[in-house]
Amino acid sequence: MRRSDINRIIEEAMSFMRERGFELPPFAHWTPEQWRRAGAEADEIRENQLGWDITNFGGDDFLKLGLTIFTLRNGNAKNPAWPKPYAEKVLVVEEGQVTPMHYHKSKMEDIINRGGGVLVMQVYNSTPDGALADTPVSVGTDGVLRNVPAGTLLRLGPGESVTVTPLLYHKFWAEPGAGKLLLGEVSSVNDDYTDNFFHEPCGRFPEIDEDEPARHLLLTEYPKP
Ligand SMILES: [Fe+2]
Repeated sequence: MRRSDINRIIEEAMSFMRERGFELPPFAHWTPEQWRRAGAEADEIRENQLGWDITNFGGDDFLKLGLTIFTLRNGNAKNPAWPKPYAEKVLVVEEGQVTPMHYHKSKMEDIINRGGGVLVMQVYNSTPDGALADTPVSVGTDGVLRNVPAGTLLRLGPGESVTVTPLLYHKFWAEPGAGKLLLGEVSSVNDDYTDNFFHEPCGRFPEIDEDEPARHLLLTEYPKP
């Protein structure tokens, strides 16, 4: 991805979140210079993958395949120095922009429509060898258990949420014509390096073409103090 696109995507996400009444914590707005000056007091941010995370999942059209993520809080399954057992993200999804089919082995997550559009999520059980199962899916939406056929599209309006349990395959997008979507994610501890299992091979952290200076650092880019 080009740095100029990443700069713009982050700035558009900041305005969209503010428009929707969702305020970000201070480190969302730190400049690269502030990151260079930050000392060990900011270790929780660096070591637990907090901050901006823009992905095109290895594709070349971010508006078709991609996701804008800001991780507000997270623990660390590999380091007991960080005992927080929960995580929270906020996500921006463009109309029709797809997050590809994947499951998590460890993370359990609630994906919450925080407004702006309509969330469509397709769900399948996974087989032990990582294929899509044809068995019915039991999935909770806001405390109500639904038993639905394999591959069902759940359609969730503002305020609605879905609980994604480990090993449940899920793919989601914002319904075209219904608006750009703000999502919340409340989950157990999250490790995006080891706990995303995609149905089709795809990337997670993009290579960056530095066509202009970074105005915001991604969570993979913080300098060590
Ligand atoms: Fe997920």
